[in-house]
Amino acid sequence: MSTSTEALVRVASVAEVRAAGRLVAQADGHVLVLFAVGDRIHALDNRCPHMGFPLHRGTLQDGILTCHWHHARFDLESGGTFDRWADDVRTFPVQIRDGEVWVDLAPRVDPRAHQRERLREGLEYEIPLVIAKAVIGSLDAGEDPSEPFRIGLDFGVWHRRDGWGRGLTILGCVRNLLPRLNPEDRPRALYHGLSAVAEDCAGQPPRFAVRPLPTLAVTPAMLRQWYRQFIEVRDAEGAERCVVSAIRAGTDPQQLADMLFAAGTDHRYLDIGHTLDFTNKALEALDVAGWTSAEPVLTSVVRGCATADRMEESNSWRHPVDLVGILENAFEKLPAALDAGHAQRGGWAGRDILLDTLLGEDPQAIAQGLLDALREGATEEDLGGTLAYAAALRIARFHTSNEFSDWDTALHTFTFANAVHQGLRRAPSAELLRGVFDAAISVYLDRFLNVPPAHLPEPDDEPIEELDALLAALPRLLDRQQQVNEAGSLVARYLNGGGDPERLMATLGGTLLREDRNFHTIQAIEAAFHQFNLLRGTPESSHVLVAAARYLAAHAPTMRAEGQTYQIAHRLHRGERLYAEPERVLATVLFIDVVGSTARAAEVGDQRWAELLRSYRAVVRAELARYQGREIEAAGDAVLAIFDGTARAIRCARAITNGVRRLGIETRAGLHAGEVEVEGDRVSGIVVHIAARVMAQAKPGTVCVTSTVKDLVAGSAIVFDDWGVHMLKGVPGEWRLFAVPG
Ligand code: FES
Repeated sequence: MSTSTEALVRVASVAEVRAAGRLVAQADGHVLVLFAVGDRIHALDNRCPHMGFPLHRGTLQDGILTCHWHHARFDLESGGTFDRWADDVRTFPVQIRDGEVWVDLAPRVDPRAHQRERLREGLEYEIPLVIAKAVIGSLDAGEDPSEPFRIGLDFGVWHRRDGWGRGLTILGCVRNLLPRLNPEDRPRALYHGLSAVAEDCAGQPPRFAVRPLPTLAVTPAMLRQWYRQFIEVRDAEGAERCVVSAIRAGTDPQQLADMLFAAGTDHRYLDIGHTLDFTNKALEALDVAGWTSAEPVLTSVVRGCATADRMEESNSWRHPVDLVGILENAFEKLPAALDAGHAQRGGWAGRDILLDTLLGEDPQAIAQGLLDALREGATEEDLGGTLAYAAALRIARFHTSNEFSDWDTALHTFTFANAVHQGLRRAPSAELLRGVFDAAISVYLDRFLNVPPAHLPEPDDEPIEELDALLAALPRLLDRQQQVNEAGSLVARYLNGGGDPERLMATLGGTLLREDRNFHTIQAIEAAFHQFNLLRGTPESSHVLVAAARYLAAHAPTMRAEGQTYQIAHRLHRGERLYAEPERVLATVLFIDVVGSTARAAEVGDQRWAELLRSYRAVVRAELARYQGREIEAAGDAVLAIFDGTARAIRCARAITNGVRRLGIETRAGLHAGEVEVEGDRVSGIVVHIAARVMAQAKPGTVCVTSTVKDLVAGSAIVFDDWGVHMLKGVPGEWRLFAVPG
């Protein structure tokens, strides 16, 4: 028995370890493996840090311990791994006292620092399992979720020459989702975001810092103007230098946002909205990580802005209607419209009328409607919110007869409109207001996606079922493909019935995170939650969550392979065993098949034979269930099953034989009992072979067993007919076989 002195714990005697060469010992909840090498004894955690395989079963050679599962190699002395994906194995200092081995179990590393280090390695080498383990471990050690977010942000902005991309956007989205998620889903959200960053940066050239101007005498206004000029001519480097200089000169966050947004809306709907969305996400990231990271983060969006596609160059914004021309005309009137509405700002009541116009078919009227709203006192935020809602309605009413890829078209408009709205709340300006007009034109261009419009679920008089059950049904619903309208209507029923929107959003978030990452779906959910929050308490608020649920349903289920990686990390963290050790168990093995199946199939034809086989298997499974047998394999008409009770196995074989006779099918069954090796779903061993050979000896409609089986049920009242001694092909010796009468 182990005894403890402070952190030192006695685990074995030196003699025991030397005699065994390697010894597994338990101490204070740790499972250790002790190796005797020369005159030294080494103590290591017995769980391989990769996926938990017991290291006492590894190979030790020349001081390197190799795990047998995926062959990770470790230095026995330090525990350091030569395979980064595996992590270092923990070693424990050993003291020898009076022939006894004492191990120091005191924690030797700061677990948070260790997990931060591992997270960086996971990002650098793009190893999702390492990322998952690091996130789970760090949050469990009490780390603030902002810390792994910060590490991912810092990594992402430097390790991709093109700067801010989808990976960082996903990271920003999931960070924003965290407060809305159930606690158990939060590490999973960060795992997705951080893995997306690693994926986005993998194989990319790095980005290097641009220096500020040598002296910072230039005014923020001048830097803003230069920045826009550099973006205009697609000079990313010059533009980055303006941003760095502005930050070093102490330009405040709102002015910096204004500078980026102004250039981001100097051209129409850059990169189908991604540019402005990425800019908004970068600003939101700084709110979380701290504005001390402003230089690397804000410069990371510059190249994207400089190189973005401009919709002035696209056919759909020029023909058959010159939408850009309409917008440029409206922009000339913007300052005057803002001036005219100045005195009445905040008192605007024209939202419903404007919405009708926005969802209509006249782009000129749309631009005019926006200008009129400003003249009537609408604020920038009023218009941003109205546009984001109009764009959400395009998704809520998206008809499933559209092409599948059109979901993305509606999504781009919505996330862009949301970004403009968030931007206007942060740094309102006449320049960024142009983004509202762009969003309005994009909503107009998306109008055919609502022809015919999908029915928007509204409150009705039907009784609402139990709300908890309704909510629980949502993930199950999204286990099936294309439950778009069903998901939308479930969400509407839940909210209209008085359901808690926070629980709904947590469920939607959890349902999103169990799927493989989809950039647009994550964006859709995040933007919808933002908009819901701003519309909270209005009838419109439910529509944005309906839109979110419909978009998610259209893109679920996925393979969920990424969730499997996360699940492995989660199970390892909980100390679960992931490997299946072969187990030897005593079992009765049944083999059964259909007599003359080939001839029968030829006789009745393929279709009838397939029906007969289905009925046959149904009988087999029903009897296996009744007699507690475990089906191991069913190939064609042959079935292998094992039982932990021999009498039940015999009765089951008899029941199947009799049961399938009404189908016009005759079977033959063979049974033998003994120790088999069970590994997961597989069973092997000589007992299995013998049972197969016994079946081969059985006559049609009979159950044939070995004497072992007969002896095991002595006293059970089962009767046997002695069939005499037989040779079994490939099995040594003679075998006395018995038949069980029906
Ligand atoms: S290498 Fe040890 S469990 Fe994978």
